[in-house]
Amino acid sequence: MIPDLPRTPSFRLDGRRAIVTGASSGIGFACACALAEAGSEVMMVARGAARLDEAAAAIRAAGGAARAQALDITDIPALQGFVSARGPFDVLVNAAGLARHGPALDTTEEDFDAVAAVNIRAAYFAAQAVARGLVAAGKTGSIIQISSQMGHVGGIDRAVYCATKHAVEGMTKAMAMEWGAKGIRVNTICPTFIRTPLTESTFRNPERRAWIEARIKLGRVGVVEDVMGAVLYLASDASALVTGTSLRVDGGWIAG
Ligand SMILES: NC(=O)c1ccc[n+]([C@@H]2O[C@H](COP(=O)([O-])OP(=O)(O)OC[C@H]3O[C@@H](n4cnc5c(N)ncnc54)[C@H](OP(=O)(O)O)[C@@H]3O)[C@@H](O)[C@H]2O)c1
Repeated sequence: MIPDLPRTPSFRLDGRRAIVTGASSGIGFACACALAEAGSEVMMVARGAARLDEAAAAIRAAGGAARAQALDITDIPALQGFVSARGPFDVLVNAAGLARHGPALDTTEEDFDAVAAVNIRAAYFAAQAVARGLVAAGKTGSIIQISSQMGHVGGIDRAVYCATKHAVEGMTKAMAMEWGAKGIRVNTICPTFIRTPLTESTFRNPERRAWIEARIKLGRVGVVEDVMGAVLYLASDASALVTGTSLRVDGGWIAG
C-alpha cells in the first residue's frame, strides 16, 4: 500500500499579524523583512520615527505590508497600551536591545539600569503584553526574543550584557511553561556577532575582532541574513512543537 505522504508544515505567514521591536535597524529590520516576505502584516516599532518610517516604506516598496510606530518600549504603560489597542499580534519578535560594554569592575549603576531596562524589563513586558492579547482573543501565537549567544556563555567586557541575556533565557523557559497549554510558544534566537550598528565599535577593535573570528567555527562573522531563516522557522507552523528553547545562530561558538 502506498503510504500517505507527510507534508512539510508551511513556513508562510499569510494572514498573521506580527509586531517587531527594534525594527528600524540591524537584526530587527531583517526580521521584519523576513516576516513581511512570508506574507505577514508587520507592525514595526522603535524610538526614532524617521529611520523607522524609512524602513517600513522600504518594505512596502518591496510589496510587503508594514506599518511604523515610534515607541520607547521601556515605557511599559505605553507599550502595553499600544499592544492592547492594536493587537492581538500572532507573532512578537523582540529585537530592541542595548549594549554598554566595559570591565565589570567599572560598571556604573546607570549603565546597568539602562541595559537592563531594555534587555530584561521591556523584553519581559513586551512578551506579557502580546501574550495577554492572544489569551484575551483565544488565539495561539509565537513569541520570539532576540537573545544572544551571550545568554549562554560569558564574554570579555560583557558582564552586564551577559546578565541581561541570561535573564531573557530564563524568562523564556518560564513563560513557555506557563503559556504552553494556551498554544503560545516562547523561544529565543541566539546570534553570534552580527554586523550591525550595535557591533560597529567591537569590530573596529582588532583585538576583539581576532577574539571573535577565532571562536566562530564557520570562519566568518554573521550578517543579518543569517537570522532571517531562524525567525521564519520560529514564527511559523514549521516549529509548531518548539517552545521554551533557544535557536543558536552562532557559527558554532558555543559548541566548544
Ligand atoms: N549585532 C549582534 O552581533 C547581536 C548579536 C546577538 C544578539 N544581538 C541582539 O539583537 C538585538 C538587535 O541588535 P542589533 O545589532 O540589530 O542592534 P541595532 O542595529 O543597534 O538596532 C537596535 C534597534 O533597537 C531599537 N531600540 C533600542 N532601544 C529601544 C527602545 N527603548 N525602544 C524601542 N526600540 C529601541 C533601535 O532603534 P531606536 O534607537 O530608534 O529606538 C534599533 O531599531 C539586540 O537585542 C541585541 O542584543 C545582536
